[in-house]
Amino acid sequence: MSVVPRAGNGKVTVPELLQRKLGTADSKNTSRTPFGRGLAGEFASDAGLTSDSDAKKIVCLTAYDYPTARLLDEAGVDVLLVGDSLSMVMLGYESTLPVTIEEMLLLTRAVKRGVKRALVVADMPYGSYHGDTAEAVKNAVRFVKEAGAEAVKVEGGERRLELIARLTEAEIPVMGHVGLTPQSVNALGGFRVQGKTVDAAEQVMRDARAVEAAGAFAVVLEAMPRELAAQITRDLRIPTIGIGAGPDCDGQILVFHDLVGLTFGKTPKFARRYANVSEVIAKAAREYCEDVRGGTFPSDGESYHAAQMAKEEKEETVNKDGDW
Ligand code: KIV
Repeated sequence: MSVVPRAGNGKVTVPELLQRKLGTADSKNTSRTPFGRGLAGEFASDAGLTSDSDAKKIVCLTAYDYPTARLLDEAGVDVLLVGDSLSMVMLGYESTLPVTIEEMLLLTRAVKRGVKRALVVADMPYGSYHGDTAEAVKNAVRFVKEAGAEAVKVEGGERRLELIARLTEAEIPVMGHVGLTPQSVNALGGFRVQGKTVDAAEQVMRDARAVEAAGAFAVVLEAMPRELAAQITRDLRIPTIGIGAGPDCDGQILVFHDLVGLTFGKTPKFARRYANVSEVIAKAAREYCEDVRGGTFPSDGESYHAAQMAKEEKEETVNKDGDW
């Protein structure tokens, strides 16, 4: 089984992600959608698919800065989403609504600089795609042109059909997002599990189908019964990426700060914590306070000395890197 993408230097690409799913389902479902076969159909043939052994879970995490992106990329994460969750976990807002395009662009650029292999997806923030479609396309283009994003994510299903189609036409791969869509927090009355009744489940299913029909290359399924997510995953040709949607999705995503324990307050039950970075940071800071106040930092060995500096100046041509 191929573990890393075959194309080029191992870079994760949109066609490669589609290939992981389509490799097991290529014969199914050819032209069901009003937009023809969309990205899934086009890329399936471009990628020269496939066999069952190509199926591979897609590992995604959020990232918002250069060092984290670099570490996650080197650890083998396939997709790094510069999520608008940064509004809450990085900027301290109560919801994802306040973050601006400029803030998202700044952090997307930082992430992009840290990444060699992973696919970098930028979340379109609230308000950047909720009005005029031409304006939304312009905003999405900024993420590609100015920040180096390889795809954008937009929340919403049936009501985003036209927008996703337009973005796809503009050569911008789109990741959809259905179920709990945090930008709808006010309309939904809070962060709640979606699709729990038959009618609600049918709506989520229609939303997921609409996203695929419009040409998205993947869709996030957030906070829904695992049975519904499994059914959507079986039904769609594009990969599903679950968060609070059970283990049967084609991939999983978590908010990085939840993964490493760098959040405050209660986290949802699906947010498995793999480390307690808050504790590590707090301990380091407490020790630093103690050392500065106790006069043990910096030590003599961590100080420059006048005599030594004079000697180093003479040696400058020999030791070009300097001695930090
Ligand atoms: O903004 C975000 O982090 C997200 C993921 C949780 C899917 O949308």
